[in-house]
Amino acid sequence: MSAVTDGSDREASGPEGGAPAGYLSRTRSFTRRGGRMPPRHQQAYDQLAPRYVIDVPREGGSTTVAPAYCLDPAVAFGRVAPLVVEVGPGSGDALIAGARARPDTDFLALEVWRPGIGQCLSRMIEDPLPNVRFVEADAEVALATMLMPGSVEEVWTYFPDPWPKRKQQHRRIVGPEFADTVRRVLRVGGLWRLATDIDGYATHMRKVLDAHEGFELVSTERAPLRPVTRFERKGAAVGRSITDLAYRRL
Ligand SMILES: C[S@@+](CC[C@H](N)C(=O)[O-])C[C@H]1O[C@@H](n2cnc3c(N)ncnc32)[C@H](O)[C@@H]1O
Repeated sequence: MSAVTDGSDREASGPEGGAPAGYLSRTRSFTRRGGRMPPRHQQAYDQLAPRYVIDVPREGGSTTVAPAYCLDPAVAFGRVAPLVVEVGPGSGDALIAGARARPDTDFLALEVWRPGIGQCLSRMIEDPLPNVRFVEADAEVALATMLMPGSVEEVWTYFPDPWPKRKQQHRRIVGPEFADTVRRVLRVGGLWRLATDIDGYATHMRKVLDAHEGFELVSTERAPLRPVTRFERKGAAVGRSITDLAYRRL
């Protein structure tokens, strides 16, 4: 049973498995979903979402991608290219920097928080990025179901919600079950890049991934081209140290 479940009825999915049974009732790694956007972000969302936000079928709530749905990146991006998936890009600092620096790579952002997508899109009005797409959905379910095994070059999980209180730590997205999910979508040799400013979460990530037979640690250096994100800045401002990790899919 995973650290991200509430222990009620979710069954672990195997490395090649699809949607875990009981996934609709599990504890989530997020609380906020909707919320108002500043008019500039709303305008950008209204104007650009038809082009950049993939309209996926949903089940059991607006953030849950229907488990039978399979996304074809060649159709979504209109070409065949290496694929990076960012889990929870927030306002998109790393996503936008990465997509600008690597025009030959496609970037799929899985984000539950629409105002974050609106903010990303507002930054793309002047600077369109044809290699970016969003799915507004819970990444835990979307990654487990919607992408083909071995189809992803890198997964990025930068500054995931830390859930620092002991009673909330089961809500952290990085856990054994999510590691199985990430392993499933990564190609052999592909990388899972993570960063956090919470020492306890860094220790937890190391514990989970060092014990996982599908991964090996290859770097604790800052990811190449990873910019200082808003959450990183906030952490650094109160004296937190930043941990970067890169694990290779074996
Ligand atoms: C603390 S913020 C970090 C944002 C960004 N990565 C950064 O470094 O600035 C975490 C983000 O993950 C998103 N998130 C949390 N759980 C998620 C899930 N299960 N699926 C998709 N996004 C999720 C939240 O909405 C939020 O935008």
